[in-house]
Amino acid sequence: MNKEIERLIDEIDLLQAAPAEEPMRQYYFIKKCRQYVKEISEKLGRPLRAATVTFGCQMNARDSEKLTGILEEIGYVEESVEEKADFVIYNTCTVRENANQRVYGRLGQLNRVKRKNPHMLIGLCGCMMQEPHVVEKLKKSYRFVDLIFGTHNIYKFAEILATRFESERMVIDIWKDTDKIVEDLPSERKYPFKSGVNIMFGCNNFCSYCIVPYVRGRERSRNPRDILREIETLVADGVKEVMLLGQNVNSYGKTLEEPMSFAELLREVEKIEGLERIRFMTSHPKDLSDELIEVMKTSRKICRHLHLPVQSGSTDILKKMNRRYTKEQYLSLVDRIKTAMPNISLTTDIIVGFPGETEADFQETLDVVQKVRYDSAFTFIYSKRTGTPAAAMENQVPQEVVKDRFDRLLKEVQKIAAEECSKHEGTTQTVLVEQMNEQDDTLVTGRLSNNLLVHFPGTKEMIGQLVDVKLISCKGFYYIGEAVK
Ligand code: SAH
Ligand code: SF4
Ligand code: F3S
Repeated sequence: MNKEIERLIDEIDLLQAAPAEEPMRQYYFIKKCRQYVKEISEKLGRPLRAATVTFGCQMNARDSEKLTGILEEIGYVEESVEEKADFVIYNTCTVRENANQRVYGRLGQLNRVKRKNPHMLIGLCGCMMQEPHVVEKLKKSYRFVDLIFGTHNIYKFAEILATRFESERMVIDIWKDTDKIVEDLPSERKYPFKSGVNIMFGCNNFCSYCIVPYVRGRERSRNPRDILREIETLVADGVKEVMLLGQNVNSYGKTLEEPMSFAELLREVEKIEGLERIRFMTSHPKDLSDELIEVMKTSRKICRHLHLPVQSGSTDILKKMNRRYTKEQYLSLVDRIKTAMPNISLTTDIIVGFPGETEADFQETLDVVQKVRYDSAFTFIYSKRTGTPAAAMENQVPQEVVKDRFDRLLKEVQKIAAEECSKHEGTTQTVLVEQMNEQDDTLVTGRLSNNLLVHFPGTKEMIGQLVDVKLISCKGFYYIGEAVK
């Protein structure tokens, strides 16, 4: 727990009105919530437990760490089993319809648990809550939910919770957009040795299929000083690897008062002593500069992995998707990257069945997959998102056609990924050990610079350490290795 935040909270006088300025205002409500939690906990004769469940991407996961940090400051003990928790908070995602369905399904189950534990609280936040039709549905059919808030005011979590403790009614607080970034809130990392770091919020790209710009708002970059200070603090606390997070990191800094490119930011992060590895996500191909390729090439810390979502290989479809590059531009970018860094691992996202996609368009996607030879690819079936331009497009592709293309794509992607993975057999590479192996407790699991996983004999003392490992045999998508003494 951050001692400075702790000290500031201690000094707050709850008899005074809540401060107007952030983050002091939230520290005030954290202290207030502490009292409520203490009272309930004394009544029950045990500590209160809270479970934060993340449904979405890495940015959502980072938000969840902030929620957990605030919950711990308030006095909740972290709990991984939802049914055992006194407070369950779902941090939702709405990028595809199935993400939404999962939330509704699990809410139904939670309702049954809550009937038995009436003091249980259920909170919902994240991207789904930014859609008015979702909130309407919750208000009508999910009255047992206690608090609902969105992506823009997540920093107000303690304040919203305090309101709920005081009102006994469902509390809803959703903002349409924000230009605000609140720094210095508590946060609790999932791993002691690695951490995500937001460098920007929102997205301005409006790819025609995508809901993210509507639910995450306009693009805003954090001040580089705040980012560097956060990373320095993390490193002092034992972090060896950071993942810089943004929907389109390549456009970092454009809206700052003193503009700064993403490549320049990386140069600054590289200088932080004690930091061993830098990753970032996600790179939009249209904004990936030669300056960035150069910085990656000369860096000792930036990992040899680039996630470069292509979405489709057809220039026609890319145009309809509003991606703003052609198949040829994408392939030429990949060429430049591979020429500069021959051992780089490239991964991607692909959508199958975008409206109007023909078999010929799909063949173009397969062609890109074969030419780039991705180390792995996330493949998605196009999901219609209400309010996006693509949802209103004609020629939605029939489900059975999409399914058939999806299966063919997956087969090709997996075949190539396995071939690419096996290329490293016999080499020795540095691995950051992340955890004990889940199936075999004589093994540890670590990650190579190129993001591949390797399992090798080891002990829990190795977790968080960088170890040189010989990659003995490739098992398709991961390695079995041996530490080199
Ligand atoms: N900002 C990132 C992507 C964030 S969403 C980028 O532009 O690369 C993660 C992935 O979800 C996208 O890359 C896309 O492949 C997929 N996705 C987004 N909207 C989708 C939709 N409506 N249907 C199917 N997949 C979608
Ligand atoms: Fe969505 Fe496109 Fe923004 Fe990525 S860049 S979040 S796909 S709109
Ligand atoms: Fe999902 Fe929101 Fe991320 S919609 S993918 S959690 S930004």
